[in-house]
Amino acid sequence: MPSCLPLPAADARAVSDAMLEKLLKRIEKGGGCLPFDSFMEAALYEPGLGYYSNGLMPFGQQGDFVTAPELGELFSRCLARCIASALEQLEQGVVMELGAGSGVLAVDLLDELEKLGSLPERYYILERSAAMRALQERRLNGQRPEFMQRVEWLNSLPEEPISGVVFGNEVADALPVKRFRWHSGQLSELGVGWQNTRLSVCELRGDDVQKRVRQLARIGHWEGDYQSEYCPTLPAWINSLTDSLAQGLLLLIDYGYGRAEYYHPQRSMGTLMCHYRHHAHDDPFWLPGLQDITAFVDFTAIAEAATAAGMQLEGFSSQARFLVACGIDQLMAEIDTVNTRQFLQLSNEAKRLILPGEMGERFKVIGFSRKLLQGVKGFATPDLRSRL
Ligand SMILES: C[S@@+](CC[C@H](N)C(=O)[O-])C[C@H]1O[C@@H](n2cnc3c(N)ncnc32)[C@H](O)[C@@H]1O
Repeated sequence: MPSCLPLPAADARAVSDAMLEKLLKRIEKGGGCLPFDSFMEAALYEPGLGYYSNGLMPFGQQGDFVTAPELGELFSRCLARCIASALEQLEQGVVMELGAGSGVLAVDLLDELEKLGSLPERYYILERSAAMRALQERRLNGQRPEFMQRVEWLNSLPEEPISGVVFGNEVADALPVKRFRWHSGQLSELGVGWQNTRLSVCELRGDDVQKRVRQLARIGHWEGDYQSEYCPTLPAWINSLTDSLAQGLLLLIDYGYGRAEYYHPQRSMGTLMCHYRHHAHDDPFWLPGLQDITAFVDFTAIAEAATAAGMQLEGFSSQARFLVACGIDQLMAEIDTVNTRQFLQLSNEAKRLILPGEMGERFKVIGFSRKLLQGVKGFATPDLRSRL
């Protein structure tokens, strides 16, 4: 257990205790060892208790982490330019945001699309957490009530494929992953058990993971001990998104790598990461329900699924290059330098979005199009596609 982390308030602690009780029952029912993806699913999304479902605010300065749109408007304004360049090619294109978090991206994006003259008739939000959805509704209603008539929350993907733009920022990293350990060719799936009055790592026979991990091992050429994870539902999730897009653009932004980098021998402890009150650490068992648990995204898996579904790769870029190609430098040039406070705030925001040690290189943007006649803004050549 990380020793330096701040302790939660009593009401939050009670949520985590209830979550733990639920997990213990599932561990017992599962014969003492619960697959890690089932644990992660519950810890993040269990109704009323999971991290994204319990109504305790995960975003912003008081929360646990800050996403790019939470930093300010620059990210959303750049993204709007990419989205507008796709909408301009479509007749009555709609926009669908996946996993809208606090709703800040929806507000800023709609604002900018309006300024660009590309406001869509419909702005769908597909959000799996009821608590997050309530937060989004409150923010949109409070800040831009005039947009509410365009915004519609969906419980599932539309039955009829849409023409428009489907996008998600930091959603793929929140899909539950399976964990595995490779020891000189011996493979086990890692699960979650209970030992000495705390959650602990246990081993499952791992028949499910055998085929998949042996494929990854051939790419990674691991020697000795190696531990990592993969997302079993990612290909089906991408398939469902591509099926729902008759014409337009699919855009995903997240931290991750192409497969060879993801499973590089030097990344022998995997990519699992937890966030609690702006501390990043690697203990997924710390206060379940009160911390975010994520894993980096295998962008090759996304590309394989999307291209197999007939989508065309528009580009695979670092976030920094994407934002530059969307014109972040022009937006910065428009800043009134006399207003020192605003200037410093926006320069700081731009640095966090673009610098390699911040979000600039770790975050990637991948885009796929279907039946678009021209390219979209944001993808300059050469890009990172050779790393997929
Ligand atoms: C890390 S947050 C990112 C929020 C926001 N996009 C941002 O950039 O600030 C992940 C969000 O995705 C939602 N989510 C996770 N899995 C989802 C899924 N399969 N479909 C829709 N939303 C999902 C979560 O409830 C949460 O709102």
